[in-house]
Amino acid sequence: MTVTHGGLDLAELRSLGLRPQDVLDFSSNINPLGTSNAVRRAAAGADLASYPDRNCTALVEALSATLDIQADHLLVGNGATELIHLVCRATLQPGDRCLVFDPTFGEYEAAAKIAGAEIHRFHAEHADAFRWDIDRALSTIRSLRPTVVFLCNPNNPTGVYLDAETVERISAAVAANGLLVLDDAYAPLVADAWPPEPLVERYGAAIVRSMTKHHALAGVRLGVLIAPPALCAAVRALQPPWSVSSVAQAAGLAAVEDEAHVEAAREVVRESKAFLAARLETLGLAVTPSAANFLLVDVGDAARVRSALLERGIAVRDCTSFGLPGHIRIGVRILDQSARLVDVLTEVLRSDETR
Ligand SMILES: Cc1ncc(COP(=O)(O)O)c(C=O)c1O
Repeated sequence: MTVTHGGLDLAELRSLGLRPQDVLDFSSNINPLGTSNAVRRAAAGADLASYPDRNCTALVEALSATLDIQADHLLVGNGATELIHLVCRATLQPGDRCLVFDPTFGEYEAAAKIAGAEIHRFHAEHADAFRWDIDRALSTIRSLRPTVVFLCNPNNPTGVYLDAETVERISAAVAANGLLVLDDAYAPLVADAWPPEPLVERYGAAIVRSMTKHHALAGVRLGVLIAPPALCAAVRALQPPWSVSSVAQAAGLAAVEDEAHVEAAREVVRESKAFLAARLETLGLAVTPSAANFLLVDVGDAARVRSALLERGIAVRDCTSFGLPGHIRIGVRILDQSARLVDVLTEVLRSDETR
């Protein structure tokens, strides 16, 4: 099963006569300040000739100290995506039920399907600003008794961010029969995020945390599983050796010590997102309220708007694969670049192409 993702497609760019460096990419939701200098330096200093440390010892120690979590509750992976797939393989048997809070990141369903699970979706509606009816979700969990539940918080692509009390209620309902997998890939770029780590001890939940978004390491691949020791061990047993490169480990170690870079990015996101939301609304577009570093925008015909923008050197995410063919998702970039997007989108909407 192929899942559609953001990011640039070289073949498509070539067909349009564009080079990646000609395109402003709003289609993936990466730290708008890019990779920090400290992380770049650390990555450049990695030993390329030797095999990486299979246990990611130094990085696990640093994460353990920073998060105040014992090392046996941590597993580093080749991006959150690897960990999502391995958690599914470790926990799901053919025919097991997997519930996905939807619309959301496509890899949960893909990974659960590969493991043979039966997929159930708990849907949030456009009319409710994509906020789930939590009481109904709880009764679905109680009656369906899924083996695994995926919840993305803040959610991709909607930006809906559930508070601690709500996620605690979901965790408690799931824990009776199954495992809650909480993906908080975008939480570090939320203005006032709450820490979900206590859910691991309290409800046996698993947290899948990407380091590729807030530290801008998507090309390096780095993610962390925070989970009960037995689950970490089961996932680890399925993980190929040397899955996390020396470059990724070195970059990750420097990243853990570079919270200032993430803090600076949060401020850029706050300002640029407010600007974008206000300007897009001025254009008559409905913008879903988002706690994350991206905005879901109703443009009517996402495929056509995306194509028209790309021809002009602007990449956005067409949300058709999320079941939202009228929406695009815009990853927040620095203010100047966001202003450029607004200008080009204004031109596109005024032209006949997308009508
Ligand atoms: C919610 C969510 N989780 C995980 C990922 C993938 O993270 P990684 O790059 O660490 O594999 C993405 C990437 O788009 C995402 O949107």
